[in-house]
Amino acid sequence: MEFTARTRTAIALLLSLAAFSSFLCGGVQGGRHHHHHAKHTKHNSARPPSAHAPGPASGGRRHASPPPHARRPVSPPAPPPSSSGGYPTPGAAAPEPAPAPAAAGSVYDVVKDFGAVGDGVTDDTDAVKTAWDTACQDDGDSVVLAAAGYSFLVHSTVFTGPCQGSVTIQLDGTIVAPSDPDKWPANSKRNWLLFYQAHGMSLKGAGLIDGKGQKWWELPCKSQKGHGGSSGHGAACDSPVAMRFFMTNNVTLQGLKVQNSPEFHIRFDSCRGVVASGLSISSPALSPNTDGIHVENSQDVVITNTAVSNGDDCVSIGAGTLNMHVENVTCGPGGHGISIGSLGKQGSRACVANVTVRNAVIRHSDNGVRIKTWQGGSGAVSAVSFENVRMDAVRNPIIIDQYYCLSKSCENATSAVFVNGVSYAGIRGTYDARTPPIHFGCSDAVPCTNITLSDVELLPASGETIDDPFCWNVYGSAATPTVPPVPCLMEGVPRNVEDNSSLKCY
Ligand SMILES: *[C@@H]1O[C@H](CO)[C@@H](O)[C@H](O)[C@H]1NC(C)=O
Ligand SMILES: *[C@@H]1O[C@H](CO)[C@@H](O)[C@H](O)[C@H]1NC(C)=O
Ligand SMILES: *[C@@H]1O[C@H](CO)[C@@H](O)[C@H](O)[C@H]1NC(C)=O
Ligand SMILES: *[C@@H]1O[C@H](CO)[C@@H](O)[C@H](O)[C@H]1NC(C)=O
Ligand SMILES: *[C@@H]1O[C@H](CO)[C@@H](O)[C@H](O)[C@H]1NC(C)=O
Ligand SMILES: *[C@@H]1O[C@H](CO)[C@@H](O)[C@H](O)[C@H]1NC(C)=O
Repeated sequence: MEFTARTRTAIALLLSLAAFSSFLCGGVQGGRHHHHHAKHTKHNSARPPSAHAPGPASGGRRHASPPPHARRPVSPPAPPPSSSGGYPTPGAAAPEPAPAPAAAGSVYDVVKDFGAVGDGVTDDTDAVKTAWDTACQDDGDSVVLAAAGYSFLVHSTVFTGPCQGSVTIQLDGTIVAPSDPDKWPANSKRNWLLFYQAHGMSLKGAGLIDGKGQKWWELPCKSQKGHGGSSGHGAACDSPVAMRFFMTNNVTLQGLKVQNSPEFHIRFDSCRGVVASGLSISSPALSPNTDGIHVENSQDVVITNTAVSNGDDCVSIGAGTLNMHVENVTCGPGGHGISIGSLGKQGSRACVANVTVRNAVIRHSDNGVRIKTWQGGSGAVSAVSFENVRMDAVRNPIIIDQYYCLSKSCENATSAVFVNGVSYAGIRGTYDARTPPIHFGCSDAVPCTNITLSDVELLPASGETIDDPFCWNVYGSAATPTVPPVPCLMEGVPRNVEDNSSLKCY
């Protein structure tokens, strides 16, 4: 624990600055949006879901003239990032070194070329946004540079593609959000930095993205957290995702620190081809809804060598996720572990397949590896593998919950998202002995099938062993003896499930 506190401090001290531009976009459900630039993209035919996103500058200007008022950074250069000790576990590798800006292409420096001030106070939205738009018009490999030593205050912004060439944002400084929720346009509170159709983009560097979420977390509508309370998702409680990638294929995120998001830190939706590595994501354990990395409707997603310490899911894997690999990820202390779901809310259909989580460490979290579905949904979760996961004082290390429900009671329904083919191999460590370390609560309508365990050894962090796993309607087997023993797995496959095409997604 002290480790994380120190890391956070180091991160806070660290950073420098960088830049962007302004806007917002409603979420999928979201509202209208706030027009800032008069420019419109000439590339896009589609638009963000609810927003008339500003497009890249259409002028094709190659370089902005140097700003008249560019000045020296006010903050000292950032110290080197904290050592690889930042990844406390053997399984989780150190962050990869931030690559130097691509050698070949043009460099668009938000300070030198676009007049960003970088003092953390002046609004640098336009400078950053214009740098993006300009780079996006460049048909080569271009770099938007937000250099170390600066802190760029950037308001809600949409970075729109597709771009002519490939754009890398080299962020070695800091980007900060406005900290007062009242400063955000009323209809644009769902995203902070939104990348839309920015195919092939990269965002790299040793810099920091700071969502300044404190005041959002304190909003009265956030106070009822979790079970028993309202979901906290009322419209009055919209709060921004720090970085959202929407309909953006082949995106690379590398080396950055992201902290204190008002809501999810990073969200990928409707993306194909995502590589995120060497990230460090942090927010307080009690910050509501601050998922580390959320993925949905996306394919071919790889997340590696990343540390997350936050107040909600470390990695959350939503409906429509296909072919996802998570390796060397450290979660906690705090947070809710790695989660598939929630799926099937309000009778929806959800499909998740081919998910591998390997070499993870989860510490002092509410859950370890979890699958959660609502009653009444349909679709399936299949071909999921959790391999070599170390648990450290985790409340529910292994859990399938098909009765996920945020209110006092949810109706027992006659359908469910089918859970089939989940393997747990090499799950070791300790649990917080208030609840059984293994919980398979499968639905009455559709049992969980082909649940396999091997090399599972979970011991109480303190106190007495709980030898009774919770099992309900679950089929599968243990290939090796487990600790605790799980005698309740039923053999075979029940008739209503076997070869039942209505339960298949693919
Ligand atoms: C995960 O960490 C191990 C040990 O540090 C390392 O050998 C391996 O290459 C890492 N995996 C990835 C995908 O980076
Ligand atoms: C991703 O990039 C590769 C290589 O440039 C390309 O072949 C592929 O079509 C891209 N994928 C998507 C979904 O755009
Ligand atoms: C899941 O992964 C397997 C093995 O890589 C692949 O053959 C299969 O097509 C994938 N399933 C889907 C639905 O993409
Ligand atoms: C749900 O409904 C089924 C069918 O009516 C019943 O058998 C089962 O006991 C109920 N389960 C719960 C948890 O209420
Ligand atoms: C059971 O799940 C495993 C993956 O966990 C898969 O390889 C196997 O094919 C599945 N078996 C059946 C009968 O579905
Ligand atoms: C297949 O599954 C569906 C959904 O659970 C169920 O309604 C149906 O009865 C099943 N079909 C068979 C042949 O068991």
